[in-house]
Amino acid sequence: MNNKFEISPSILSANLGQLQAEIEACERSGADRIHIDVMDGSFVPNITFGQVMVKNCRALTDLPLDVHLMIVSPERHIESFAKAGADIITVHYETCPLIQRTLTQIRETGAKSGICFNPGTPLDSLRYLSADFDQVLLMTVNPGFGGQKYIPSMTLKISDTAQILKELGSDALIQVDGGIDATTIGEAYAAGARNFIAGSSVFGHPEGTEAGIRALRAGVENRN
Ligand code: DX5
Ligand code: ZN
Repeated sequence: MNNKFEISPSILSANLGQLQAEIEACERSGADRIHIDVMDGSFVPNITFGQVMVKNCRALTDLPLDVHLMIVSPERHIESFAKAGADIITVHYETCPLIQRTLTQIRETGAKSGICFNPGTPLDSLRYLSADFDQVLLMTVNPGFGGQKYIPSMTLKISDTAQILKELGSDALIQVDGGIDATTIGEAYAAGARNFIAGSSVFGHPEGTEAGIRALRAGVENRN
């Protein structure tokens, strides 16, 4: 596994009244993607963004748009999110009884495909689907809200995922989402995560968005 890692700020915690400035700050500080959380009030308690938000972000940046679908029946919306400008589309294992087909459907749009697991969901399906996903998104909180605390036992799940991918010879990216800040990013990195989604620690940083991204990078460099 290589040492390079990526930061994906989640605009769920951005100041949406200044979305352009927030995204520009991400670009200046070398963010690698923009993460967009789509919630339907059914699979998760909250309702957030849809295709219109993806389209607006597309007009503001050339950074890859990483769209996290926390919605029931995501297969109904994959094409429209791709058309709106999504570069990577991630679906939850829990919402997809036919997930092999759904991952294939994502790739057919030209987007990269991601499979996501809630904290309590086992990883067994990874073994059978490794030809079908480009990234594995591990929730390190229960999805639905920003600003929650990293669940410490998820570090074991990250290393289990890294081990399974290694056994399979898969070079899929391991992403983590939830409670990632300067104090938790180091252990998630050490366990094998290489893409870090962060909302409140980036956009809520007391010294601003750029300082938030710098602090995350420092959290990896100075990890114990
Ligand atoms: C949670 C979302 C996350 C959220 C993370 O359901 O999927 O992407 O924005 O927020 P923080 O970094 O504040 O935990
Ligand atoms: Zn997310």
